[in-house]
Amino acid sequence: MLAVYACFLWLYALLALANPLKARGTAAQNPFLVTKLPGMHENVPIDDLPLMFAGQLELFPENQTSYFFWKYSDIHKLPEAEKRTIFWLNGGPGCSSMDGALMEAGPFRINDDHEIVYNNGSWHKLGDMVFVDQPGGTGFSFTDKYDHELDLVTAHFLRFMEKYFELFPEDRENEIYFAGESYAGQYIPYIANGILRHNKNLREGEIPYDLKGLLIGNGWIAPNEQSLYYMPYCVQAGIIKPDNPQWGRILQQQEMCQKIVDANSGSESVAEVESSTCESVLTMILSATQDSRNPDQACYNMYDYTLKDSYPSCGMNWPPDLVNVGPFLNDPVVKMDLNLVRAKKWEECSSRVHRALSAKNSAPAITLFPALLEELPIILFNGNRDIICNYMGTEGFINTLTWGGATGFSGDVDVLDWVHDANVAGYIKTERNLTFINVFDASHMVPFDKPDVSRALMDIITGNFDTTDDNDAGQKRQLVTYPLGERQKKISDSEPATPVESPQETPLPSNTIPEEEEGAPQPTSSKESASSSDAPEDTHTGRITRLIQLAVIIILIWGVCVLYSLYRSRPSSIIKTGPSGKKKNVQWADQLRQFEEEDQQFQRLKNQGIFSKAMNKLTGASTEPRYDPVAEDIELGDNIPVDHPDNFIIESDDEDERPRSET
Ligand SMILES: *[C@@H]1O[C@H](CO)[C@@H](O)[C@H](O)[C@H]1NC(C)=O
Ligand SMILES: *[C@@H]1O[C@H](CO)[C@@H](O)[C@H](O)[C@H]1NC(C)=O
Repeated sequence: MLAVYACFLWLYALLALANPLKARGTAAQNPFLVTKLPGMHENVPIDDLPLMFAGQLELFPENQTSYFFWKYSDIHKLPEAEKRTIFWLNGGPGCSSMDGALMEAGPFRINDDHEIVYNNGSWHKLGDMVFVDQPGGTGFSFTDKYDHELDLVTAHFLRFMEKYFELFPEDRENEIYFAGESYAGQYIPYIANGILRHNKNLREGEIPYDLKGLLIGNGWIAPNEQSLYYMPYCVQAGIIKPDNPQWGRILQQQEMCQKIVDANSGSESVAEVESSTCESVLTMILSATQDSRNPDQACYNMYDYTLKDSYPSCGMNWPPDLVNVGPFLNDPVVKMDLNLVRAKKWEECSSRVHRALSAKNSAPAITLFPALLEELPIILFNGNRDIICNYMGTEGFINTLTWGGATGFSGDVDVLDWVHDANVAGYIKTERNLTFINVFDASHMVPFDKPDVSRALMDIITGNFDTTDDNDAGQKRQLVTYPLGERQKKISDSEPATPVESPQETPLPSNTIPEEEEGAPQPTSSKESASSSDAPEDTHTGRITRLIQLAVIIILIWGVCVLYSLYRSRPSSIIKTGPSGKKKNVQWADQLRQFEEEDQQFQRLKNQGIFSKAMNKLTGASTEPRYDPVAEDIELGDNIPVDHPDNFIIESDDEDERPRSET
């Protein structure tokens, strides 16, 4: 009997070797290869299962700094995805990019059984997606030395890129894009600026990074200016009305914020990313509009005003997927699957990182935009339901931004309807390398609500779209994007008939998106259509061959196993193989025990109760890009007594501002 088991083990080992996901990486890459995850084979279509690498990449051994990354590449790449790397960063500061990976733009979502399921709107179909936990201490990344300013964050990310491309030298000349959300509206421009500087100061033999464009969703880019739009947005959305008892008080705060903005405007070196005076406008609105009659629904969700949350969470319990993502990432088996060398506890947002990164001497990222836009296209997109980084704020600071020789979008800038998959997905303005997109029916996390639509943002920045002219019915011009691969299909279908005219038939909306030439139909389309029509057949035949090979191997091994078990009936021969197998099991068990202990510790922490959790939220150890509205509370940190909800009210500076209903 044991012989049969031994044979099964053999069979399993051989099958594992035959797994197409294995044996793909180089020797250096292998420790980072991800070959299993709960639900992977059951819930994800085999063709959509990406080749994955993940792990904690060492940056600075001297201060124990390693960044965690998770890379997904499509196995059957579309031609346009071939040489493209997209780095994704979530915000906070201190929030893990696993939010982006497992709730937004990545190929998986986590179900109620804490298993992965496929996200058919994943961006990895349009380029390798690399989700990075940064700066040090965020998510599964660790460090002894926390970053305080954004120039350090930048330098450390460049170090990460150096190490990352040492690990994946075949990607080093890829086109590079950055995408991210919320406080990544600070990270991304800073890092892009660092890359451009790096490119201008290359050492001998170094090649520049081919940085192609930036996409920032609901970005926290010009914090003080954006804070001025809380009132207009909330009034327009019907969240607050002049008859609110707090109306006057909020307007006063607004005025104080306006003074700060005015004082800073025009000065080149605005130190400090954000002012707490401006931030508290939002806190005051949320407090003034709470409805204490319904505790579970007392507060507007600041990330999606169409939803409600308990007060004072106001969205910190959102998105709902979070209740599955945490347990998934803290499952000891998953930590092993992700090749963690240090199995730290995963928290969505690290309060320590948040507290450290005060950025008191960093100018807000908006100051970097004029120079960046001379060299790169930037898309700023906003889910229109978000309050905290709302679209009015983004349009607002664009209006006062001077770039490319003018201020704001010009008066006669086209406002295009964005039509994706035959539905209006939003509207678009684009000039002088800057594109603003308002995405309809989406929250702070656009890819969470609209995965397929959000993926088409990559098509927009790379020029893979069509435009229509105004028509007689007075319809606006449209920018049209398509579900995955459909534009190429359309072009190749129409190609035999009109091979020459087709480029002229699709005038582009402006000459400001540099990749448009490349994306323009004619030159690339023939190449793309050729390979895209070949590719499916190739991979199909390949798969069948692989299956046949596998079947033959299985049958052969099965035969050997049966013969072996018939031949060897004495148990003593099996015992010989025992020790090594057992040893392995013990190691496994030891590791498991270690994980379990950590897990129990985690449980103990968790059981401390809801208020300590709430505090974690408030101090940033919380949900999402919830860039935390108030700095003062954060500074108080561990000294806040955790047993009274009033301690989590964000208005820290004025006792008397607390609404009467609270006391
Ligand atoms: C993608 O998934 C969503 C949600 O499960 C579904 O509604 C949609 O039809 C799917 N799209 C495709 C192309 O399979
Ligand atoms: C837009 O970016 C391109 C590089 O991608 C650059 O050549 C061009 O000058 C930029 N346009 C403006 C108006 O700055």
